[in-house]
Amino acid sequence: MNRMTRTAPRRNVDEITASRRLRRMRKADWSRRLVQENRLTVDDLIWPIFLIEGENRREEIAAMPGVHRLSVDLAVREAERAAKLGIPAIATFPNVDMSLRDQTGSEILNPDNLINRATRALKDAVPEIGIITDAALDPFTSHGHDGILRDGIIVNDETVDQVAQAALLQAAAGADVIAPSDMMDGRIGAIRDTLDANGFQDVAIMSYATKFASAFYGPYREAIGTQGLLKGDKKTYYIDPANTDEALRETEQDLLEGADMVMVKPGLPYLDIVRRLKDEFAMPTFAYQVSGEYAMIEAAARNGWIDGERAMVESLLAFKRAGCDGILTYFAPRVAELLKA
Ligand code: PBG
Repeated sequence: MNRMTRTAPRRNVDEITASRRLRRMRKADWSRRLVQENRLTVDDLIWPIFLIEGENRREEIAAMPGVHRLSVDLAVREAERAAKLGIPAIATFPNVDMSLRDQTGSEILNPDNLINRATRALKDAVPEIGIITDAALDPFTSHGHDGILRDGIIVNDETVDQVAQAALLQAAAGADVIAPSDMMDGRIGAIRDTLDANGFQDVAIMSYATKFASAFYGPYREAIGTQGLLKGDKKTYYIDPANTDEALRETEQDLLEGADMVMVKPGLPYLDIVRRLKDEFAMPTFAYQVSGEYAMIEAAARNGWIDGERAMVESLLAFKRAGCDGILTYFAPRVAELLKA
C-alpha cells in the first residue's frame, strides 16, 4: 500500500479551516444526540397554577387557552398528577374574591386565605412536591398594585413589613419556598429575618430579583382578576426593560439580603439577563416564562401558524442554553408528559 495516500500532508491553517465540516456531526440522530450540549428534563420545571374559591371549579382563562383557575380540591388533584410526572415544584397564584380586596391588601394577613388553605391542602396530600408561594400584595389589593397605595404612592417600608408577615403565614401553612414578586426594596432581608426569628430557617427564598415592567404580564392579570383594577403602571417598582446593569445591582442586593435562588421575569425576551446573572453570581438561577409568552406560542399554535409542541420545547431549551437551572412555565405538565413519552 502506498504510504503517501495514508499520511496526510502538513496543512496550513487556511486549509484546515476549509476542510472543517460542521455538518459531519449533524448527519445522524445518534451523533446529534451525542454532541447535544443542553438538555431539558422534568427536573427543570416549576408549574405555576391559579387558584379560585369553591369546590370542583375549573375555569379556563380566555387569554391563556389550556390554562385554568382551579379550586383547591382540583389543585390537589393536579398536584398529584404533577408529582407522578416528576415535576419538582408548583407555584400558586390566587384569584381572590373581589369582596376581600382592599386598599392595603389586608386579606394576605389572613392565615386561612386562599393561598394558605391551598398550601395546607397541597402539602397534606402531596408532601413530596415543593410549594412556592408569592408574598406580593397584588392579588389582594383593590387597585392591583403589589404594594400599599397611599396618596398615589406605593409605600415601600410599610409594604415590606406586610409582605414579611404574609411570608411568615405562608411558611406556617407549609410553603417550602417564599418567592416575593413585589420588588420592594429590602423585602428579602425582612422576610429572611422574620422567618428565622420564628423558627423557619429552612424555608427558602426565591427572589424575583429582576422583574421588569413588562407588557407580557397581560394574560396573568386576567387570570387573577386585576386587569380592570390596575391604575397606572408598575414602573416605580419594577425594572425598566432597557436596563441590565440595574438588574445586576438588584440581584446582588437580594443575594446579600439572603436570597437562595434568583429569578428573571419575563423569560424569553430577557435571556441576556439570565446569562449575566449566572456568569456573575453562579447562583441557582430561574426564569419565568410568563403568561404573555405562553399566550403568544399557544395562540400561534392554535391558529396553525407554528408547530406548538416544537415551539414549546425550543423555547424551554433556550432557557437552559442561557444558563437557567429551571423554568417556571405554564407548559410544565404538557412538556413533562412529552418528555416521559
Ligand atoms: C405580580 C405578579 C405578576 C406576575 C406574577 N405575579 C405580574 C404583574 O401582574 O405585574 C406575572 C406572571 C405572568 O405573567 O405569568 N406580583
